[in-house]
Amino acid sequence: MSPGTIALIVVAVSILAWAGFMANVTIRKQRKAAAAAGGGTATTDTAASTSHSAPAPSAPAVTVETVPPAKRKPLSPDQLAVSRRQFLNRAWGLSFVGFLGFFGMSSLSFLWPKLTGGFGTKINAGNYDDIIAKVGPDNNYLPLFIPEGRFWLTYYEGTGDAPVYTAVGAVDTKLQALYRKCVHLGCSVPHCAESMLFECPCHGSKYRLHGEFFAGPAPRGLDRFPVTIEGSSVIVDTGSVQVGPPRGVSTWDKFAGPQGPFCVPT
Ligand code: FES
Repeated sequence: MSPGTIALIVVAVSILAWAGFMANVTIRKQRKAAAAAGGGTATTDTAASTSHSAPAPSAPAVTVETVPPAKRKPLSPDQLAVSRRQFLNRAWGLSFVGFLGFFGMSSLSFLWPKLTGGFGTKINAGNYDDIIAKVGPDNNYLPLFIPEGRFWLTYYEGTGDAPVYTAVGAVDTKLQALYRKCVHLGCSVPHCAESMLFECPCHGSKYRLHGEFFAGPAPRGLDRFPVTIEGSSVIVDTGSVQVGPPRGVSTWDKFAGPQGPFCVPT
């Protein structure tokens, strides 16, 4: 059951409980008012009694006469008619409130982010050995795009001497998950198989295979996501974006420069 559905049920039950409580309070008040209008009030009389022969006591004796509470009169037909009308009005009102509550919660449930997969969650990118075979030296280091998570998986054998490499587990896993969003103005960045750089088509920013800044207006390297190996699976946490390394960082000599002509002219 999704979080949105649970929230819908909880809020709907709360609204119904509140409505029932308010209706009960109102009906009790009406009954009390009707009883007060039709019944009598209890009175208490006091009287002093004295004895002819006995000397006056120091304090007068007090006799309390108790009056039994008046019996509640049955409601008249007119009062009953009003009660029925009020009951129907409130029933309609509560039905309307209930409808609004369900409608509102259904809308919220529809808009509620479904964090059960896709970008923003942990994504299983596949079997580790299979991925290494696809992005490693056996396949000329060509990166693999994972559309579900909007990231490129790339091979990495650098020194990882910038903090972000530790944060994403690059050295341990020999993998990096690079967010495809250009850190200049947000365009999607494709990979160029000739230069082996990521080259942004919008303003020409270029990033090395492992996501470091190489050229253009971008302020830093590509952002990236933490990668972990669970069993034999590669898990990428796309809910935890790690800011890319600053300009000037170069941690893998093999791909420090272009390997061929650019796809996007400078
Ligand atoms: S958005 Fe990529 S270089 Fe401007």
